[in-house]
Amino acid sequence: MIGTDILLAKELLLNNELVAIPTETVYGLAANALSEEAILKIFTTKNRPAFDPLIVHVRSVDEIGKYVLHFPYKARLLADNFMPGPLTLLLPKKALIPDLVTSGLPQVAIRIPLHEMSLDLLNSLDFPLAAPSANPFGYVSPTTAQHVEDQLGNKIPYILDGGICNIGIESTIIGFDTTPPTIYRMGGIGIEQIESVIGKVNVQLHSTSNPKSAGMLKSHYAPRKKVIIGNIAELLKRYPLELTGVLSFYNSYDHPFQVVLSPTENVHEAARNLFAGLRRLDEMPITTILTELVPDVFIGRAINDRLKRAAATDKDTEL
Ligand code: TXA
Ligand code: MG
Repeated sequence: MIGTDILLAKELLLNNELVAIPTETVYGLAANALSEEAILKIFTTKNRPAFDPLIVHVRSVDEIGKYVLHFPYKARLLADNFMPGPLTLLLPKKALIPDLVTSGLPQVAIRIPLHEMSLDLLNSLDFPLAAPSANPFGYVSPTTAQHVEDQLGNKIPYILDGGICNIGIESTIIGFDTTPPTIYRMGGIGIEQIESVIGKVNVQLHSTSNPKSAGMLKSHYAPRKKVIIGNIAELLKRYPLELTGVLSFYNSYDHPFQVVLSPTENVHEAARNLFAGLRRLDEMPITTILTELVPDVFIGRAINDRLKRAAATDKDTEL
């Protein structure tokens, strides 16, 4: 069921049930982060492998100290600048965070969603919310309540509808156990923004041998259709029109199956429309999605990262 009843969402969460919640990035599949029973439901409902840890959502920067052993200076600076917002910090966890949440890792991923409804919900609870993106494992993240309903509607009791996700792409994940700190997933906060606050960072994405985070598996975020990246005008000459769809940044083409991410050539708008666009093309009677990269700056890097993962063919890296 889809609705806007925060009290009902609270009651369900208090009873170890799952509730899909809106955030500024993507919808999350939330449960009491301190309850193993509730956490287990997330893994089974998403069909998520147990080695893939969950992000814990808290209501304020001050709350973070309750759940972590220490809060490095650079992490604190980033928190003060970008939280609430699309940034996730990897920090050493206290014992009250169940090992199930972190898949046995010593660090917990923590973020504060920039969404009034979910902040109201968090403020009404005395526990944080573990929430992965509310999609079946390996598929594109949901950016509307209806996306969640379409894929998980019959498996969860309630979807809190907070409208379309404003950022539209998952949070940036950064860890502090290296010098300089390491970005493990590109997301809503750009590297440029992070470096303007804490200086140089490492970037370590696409690790397939030891996926510290599943977002690092190349083929994660994949739609069901084949995705080919290149110059769209050139690709259209090579592929039969009737089998293809086009996902373009701002140009439109004379093509029956196409999604234009941002007619005004704005990367933020493109990010907001990306996952909905991939879903729409997935529903069209085509076999192949032809697409192109956007300028590789700010959130454009995260868009390009998701497009490359959608196009990856090494499906053996997915479980
Ligand atoms: O924007 C977001 O981050 C959304 C919204 C719902 O908050 N959440 C999200 O969760 O994208 P999920 O589970 O789809 O992706 C979280 C990523 C995974 O790739 C996971 O492996 C990584 O974060 N992660 C979580 N805890 C971790 C940890 N302790 N160490 C390393 N990576 C971790
Ligand atoms: Mg996800």
